[in-house]
Amino acid sequence: MKFSKFGQKFIQPTGISQLMDDLGDALKSDKPVNMLGGGNPARIEAVNELFLQTYQALGNDGSFNNSDETNSTATSSMANYSNPQGDAAFIDALVGFFNRHYDWNLTSENIALTNGSQNAFFYLFNLFGGAFTDEQNESVDKSILLPLTPEYIGYSDVHVEGQHFTAVLPHIDEVTHDGEEGFFKYRVDFDALENLPALKEGRIGAICCSRPTNPTGNVLTDDEMAHLAEIAKRYDVPLIIDNAYGMPFPNIIYSDVTLNWDDNTILCFSLSKIGLPGVRTGIIVAAPEVIAAVSAMNAVVNLSPTRFGASIATPLVENNAIKDLSDNDIKPFYQQQAKTAVTLLKNELGDYPLSIHKPEGAIFLWLWFKDLPISTSELYEILKEKGTLIVPSEYFFPGVDISDYKHAHECIRMSIAADEQTLRDGIAVIGEVVRGLYDGAK
Ligand SMILES: Cc1ncc(COP(=O)(O)O)c(C=O)c1O
Repeated sequence: MKFSKFGQKFIQPTGISQLMDDLGDALKSDKPVNMLGGGNPARIEAVNELFLQTYQALGNDGSFNNSDETNSTATSSMANYSNPQGDAAFIDALVGFFNRHYDWNLTSENIALTNGSQNAFFYLFNLFGGAFTDEQNESVDKSILLPLTPEYIGYSDVHVEGQHFTAVLPHIDEVTHDGEEGFFKYRVDFDALENLPALKEGRIGAICCSRPTNPTGNVLTDDEMAHLAEIAKRYDVPLIIDNAYGMPFPNIIYSDVTLNWDDNTILCFSLSKIGLPGVRTGIIVAAPEVIAAVSAMNAVVNLSPTRFGASIATPLVENNAIKDLSDNDIKPFYQQQAKTAVTLLKNELGDYPLSIHKPEGAIFLWLWFKDLPISTSELYEILKEKGTLIVPSEYFFPGVDISDYKHAHECIRMSIAADEQTLRDGIAVIGEVVRGLYDGAK
């Protein structure tokens, strides 16, 4: 069968699709696996309990045939399509929630729903990256500017044609964490960013960052965010902030930072990392013209976005339970997991050149094995053979030629969402293999 160019772009094997298949196959094998590789959220008792209660309440509300959108109850909403912008009751609940907590003065024209935030990035990167016609009627190819790589793997292949990223490598600062040495933190290289020809020549369509960042757990500071917002305004492009792990839910963020919005900012949220990745619900907060564009794309691609996640989350947003759960259960859980994993790693590799990105949020640790005698893609293969799965760093640099950038081949992403025994077993294997590699090179 012959597929169009559009089709070919999506079906050609990408590094990440191969890696994801690999992770999936390893889990299906009969050998035990220490899964430190995926992006699934942890199973947290309090979270599961609340979702189960809410789910049961949906089943009991007895209003399946109610088709009155203005008086929608949970099950009635599932029996009807919403308009393409998304479930109106959930959007109203979100407007109230954000205005209560942040005073942003939103209206329902500022929010659209998508089928997961991955779906939102597909829309946004194709709205703001790719071929444009400029004022002189000339064609201009614009990119999405990633001000700090490493960045989220899932951005890599979402453009319908080619890849349109311009990315900036980080400053690497040695820092302490809880009074201990052996940590580093990435910072935005604003000199490099401000001097990018693509920015100066009008070939950037939007700026985007995840905060906290997948894969590193870095949280861009308020100063860095204010500087990015200023650059975005100066060049008249939107600043897209990916809050998949951020404030106010799931709030897996340990540094003291704030979240701001204005009509040049596009905030993306998700229900996935609070523990509901299967309901596929993403939320975009933006200026009305962006919301109208996203709604139009929803109409073509989905008719209307799924309402199941919206139904579960509406009462939790109305009564703030989603925020309480994030602050009191989800955030402390991952903070403790990060602490445990750091202690285990220091025990295994304290005398070796391991440096850990300061854990500031998200559900990962990012480990740097400086001058490791092999690349971390090769390390990945050895660890896989020994039943431990991680993700090597080379996948996290969309828009950068990393052939001469050694650091991009020396790091790994390790999930901390697994139970403690899996963390212990997996880290023991990483320790044994990495010690052997450094010792062998002496
Ligand atoms: C930084 C980041 N953004 C977006 C997503 C997409 O999540 P979802 O489509 O489940 O909302 C993920 C998923 O892992 C992520 O890590």
